[in-house]
Amino acid sequence: MRQVHIETFGCQMNEYDTELVRALLKKAGYGFTEDRECADVILMNTCAIRENAHTKVYTHLSDLRALKKSRPLVVGVLGCMAQNLKAELTKQEPMVDLLAGPDSYRQLPMLIDHAMQAQEEGVRMQRLAVDLSEYETYEGIAPARLSGVNAWIAVMRGCDNFCSFCVVPYTRGRERSREPNGILEEARRVAAEGFKQITLLGQNVNSYRSGEWDFARLLAAVADVPGIERVRFTSPHPKDFPPALLEAVAFHPKICKHIHLPVQSGNDRILNLMNRSYTMREYLTLVEQIRSINPDIVLTTDIIAGFCTETEGEFADTYRLLEEVRYHSAFIFVYSERANTIAARKFPDDVAPEVKSQRVTALVEMQRRISSERNREYINRTLPVLVEGDAKKSRLQAMGKTDGHITVIWNKCDLPSRPGQVVSCSIYDASASTLYAKAPTFSDLHRPENEHSCTNSDQGVA
Ligand code: SAH
Ligand code: SF4
Ligand code: F3S
Repeated sequence: MRQVHIETFGCQMNEYDTELVRALLKKAGYGFTEDRECADVILMNTCAIRENAHTKVYTHLSDLRALKKSRPLVVGVLGCMAQNLKAELTKQEPMVDLLAGPDSYRQLPMLIDHAMQAQEEGVRMQRLAVDLSEYETYEGIAPARLSGVNAWIAVMRGCDNFCSFCVVPYTRGRERSREPNGILEEARRVAAEGFKQITLLGQNVNSYRSGEWDFARLLAAVADVPGIERVRFTSPHPKDFPPALLEAVAFHPKICKHIHLPVQSGNDRILNLMNRSYTMREYLTLVEQIRSINPDIVLTTDIIAGFCTETEGEFADTYRLLEEVRYHSAFIFVYSERANTIAARKFPDDVAPEVKSQRVTALVEMQRRISSERNREYINRTLPVLVEGDAKKSRLQAMGKTDGHITVIWNKCDLPSRPGQVVSCSIYDASASTLYAKAPTFSDLHRPENEHSCTNSDQGVA
């Protein structure tokens, strides 16, 4: 059996797509290996969102050169970089045998077969499948998931928003949603396979629409699937939060109390240049609505610092926004110009690199302080935590997530648990990124702030 090794970069949608690719190749008779040295085919599922994502892939590709010289090997580039760079990538990297964009994965078995055949015949030829589709949702393909606690389910693909800085509308094409029946069937299947959490995915997940079904209705229906403990979603856009969606998040016991609400900038002129379609006032009104409907909802965000023509004063507005909203955490990025985007065509990338990085550093430092203060508010509280597995740093410790998606770590000997279980954790310490927990004592459980704490359930993955 021919062995395929897949490396995945980028967002959760790419992780999900890798599972689709695995399913398609499995059906075509391919096996899989974690070890690139043993592979007949190496595929890289790539990301194009910022320049460093590109650089990472070029570095990995150059690592493969020696390997490819030493034996027959098919190298393929999939995903957003394949879609975005096409000819440039094939010219710059002649050792790449095939390219397949995010809507072309059904053609992969055929592309790989042809590449292998050509290699056996000693012919050098690159194969490209980079057409974007208005319809492809990979309906009917059951992703080959690795076992775990969380199952990703893509409910829509593509993006029609054209934020001026962003390459995604060009790499992922137009928005399209799946039928609710296919999604619910997939949700029931993953529940039967033992997954405890579902994360609904889409480049603009809350723009989901299929006939009478909007995202709020879909989210609640997925959360009602028996056996699923928690449902999350990413990434939403602030423009699509009708009251029904806020109510679903605020009140449905299985929908996690976490909203990732990318803001990008705290200044109206910059938001307008970014084509984000909301003003600061509209965004802050939404934050207020979310917090007034349920103050326990954890808010996180994405920020870009040093966007085209951003002045010191406009940057200061973003700094003040972080102070005002006090997100639990934030991903903060240096603006990275992407070829052919609206910003690249229309605005100068004129903030000096050192100024961009000073601005990012200032925001990161401020956010670390806020995250740490926010997390310390959980000390002495007992929280239900979905166990994911071993902690990264030590196998003697376990790791899980709160409903609000905050990482919790504890010593296994103190609080025994299995992946997939929801356990009560008593928080005794906190850093900017992590809560530290122990088993709750009788008095922990009876503190007034723990009235709503859970009892340990026993629902591990078999
Ligand atoms: N669809 C998601 C965003 C996906 S990209 C949404 O709209 O929220 C994730 C984040 O990467 C974006 O929110 C933005 O903060 C950042 N990003 C996108 N393009 C970028 C660029 N050219 N430079 C720097 N950061 C960028
Ligand atoms: Fe990119 Fe904007 Fe679409 Fe998000 S909404 S994927 S940032 S264009
Ligand atoms: Fe990257 Fe494409 Fe996702 S550009 S962030 S892999 S949609």
